[in-house]
Amino acid sequence: MTNELGNNAPIGTVVVGYGYWGPNIVRNVIERPEFELVALCERDQSRIAEFEKRTPGAASIDSFEKALADPDVEAVAIATPPHTHYMLVRQALEAGKQVLVEKPLARTAGEAAELVALSEEVGKVLMPGHTFLYSPPVNKVKELIDEEVLGEIYFATSSRMNLGLYQRDGVVLDLAPHDLSILLYWLGEPLVEVTANGRSVFQDGVHETAFLTLRFASGAQANVQVSWLAPRKMRQMVIVGSRRMIQYEDTASDDAVRIYDRGLDFAEPPANFGEYRLSYRTGDMVAPQIAAAEPLGLELKDFASAIRQGTTPVSSPRLGLEVVFALEALERSLHAHGEPVKVRSADDVRSRDRLPLTVA
Ligand SMILES: NC(=O)c1ccc[n+]([C@@H]2O[C@H](COP(=O)([O-])OP(=O)(O)OC[C@H]3O[C@@H](n4cnc5c(N)ncnc54)[C@H](O)[C@@H]3O)[C@@H](O)[C@H]2O)c1
Repeated sequence: MTNELGNNAPIGTVVVGYGYWGPNIVRNVIERPEFELVALCERDQSRIAEFEKRTPGAASIDSFEKALADPDVEAVAIATPPHTHYMLVRQALEAGKQVLVEKPLARTAGEAAELVALSEEVGKVLMPGHTFLYSPPVNKVKELIDEEVLGEIYFATSSRMNLGLYQRDGVVLDLAPHDLSILLYWLGEPLVEVTANGRSVFQDGVHETAFLTLRFASGAQANVQVSWLAPRKMRQMVIVGSRRMIQYEDTASDDAVRIYDRGLDFAEPPANFGEYRLSYRTGDMVAPQIAAAEPLGLELKDFASAIRQGTTPVSSPRLGLEVVFALEALERSLHAHGEPVKVRSADDVRSRDRLPLTVA
C-alpha cells in the first residue's frame, strides 16, 4: 500500500478523547501495522494520567490545535462526545488531516452535511465510526440478506438495553446510531419515516428509554427499543423475511446468528376470504459458524485503506449522513410525542447547494 506521500509508512495518528471508548481506539491504533500513534489528545489531566499508566512512554497532548499543527500527524481519530464532533472534525479537515470520527458523525443534519461537503472539497477522508458494520455476525446477516436467503424482508425488531451510562445527549443519540447503521446497511435502502416515543425520568428532555418505529422505502418496518434502564445487557435483533427468519444476539458467544426456516405461507391462491389456507413452516434452526474478529480493528483497517487506496469505507460518509438525518427526525418525533416525521434523503441534500441544511 502506498500513501499520498508515495511511501508506505504507517499513518501518524492522534486519538482525541480517552473516556470510555477512546482507550479501545488507542489500543487498536497501537496494534495495527497501518498506523502509528503519535499522541493522545485529551483535555482532562486525570484521563491523561490513566493513559500514561496504561501506555508507558507514549506521548500525550492537551491541545487539539497543537496536535493539528504537528506535520507528523496525518490522521485524527475522534472519540469525544457527540456535541463536540462538528467543531473538531471541521478544524481537522481544514488542517488537512484524514478523519475518523466516532458515531454519530455530528449532532445535527446540517452540521453533518456541511462536514461531508467539506471533506469532499479538501479531498480528505471523513469516516464515521459505525463499528457494528465491521462485526462478523452483522456481516453474516448482510450476506444472507444479499443472497436472498431471507426472501422479502417484512420487518425487524431490535432491543438494545442495559444499565447504561447516563449522558446529556440522551439514549437515542447514544444507542440508536447502532440500530440505524445496521438496518441501513442490511436493507440497503432509504429510511422514509420515523416515529419515536420515550420517557425521561430524571431530567427533562434527556430520555433514558425510547421506542422507535422506522419505515423504509420498500415498506419494510423496524421497531427499536433503546434504554439505559434495564436489568441486564440485551443486544438482540430479529429479522423476519418471506423465506427465513433470523435472530441475531450480539451478546451470545457461539450462536450469535440463528437462521430459522419458519414462516407462514398461503397454501393456494384464495378465491375469497373464506378460502384462505395458511400453512405453517416450522423447519430447522441453523447457527452458522462465524469466525471471531474485533470489529474496531477491521474498522481501522478500512480507514487505512480509504486513506492509502482511496476506497470508500463500508462505514461511509453517506451512511453517516443518513444516520444523522434519521436521528434528527427521531428526536423531532420524540419531542412531538410520537408524531410521524419524514426523513430527508442524502441524495436530496447532496444535490443541492451544499450549504448547511436543517431537516424540514
Ligand atoms: N462505536 C462504539 O461502539 C462506541 C461505543 C461507545 C462510545 N462511542 C462513541 O465514542 C464517543 C465518545 O464516547 P465516550 O463514551 O468515550 O465519552 P466519554 O465522555 O467517556 O469520553 C470523552 C472524552 O473526551 C474528552 N474530550 C472532550 N472534548 C475534548 C477535546 N476538545 N479535546 C480533547 N479531549 C476532549 C473528555 O475529557 C473525555 O475524557 C461518542 O461519540 C460515542 O458515541 C462509540
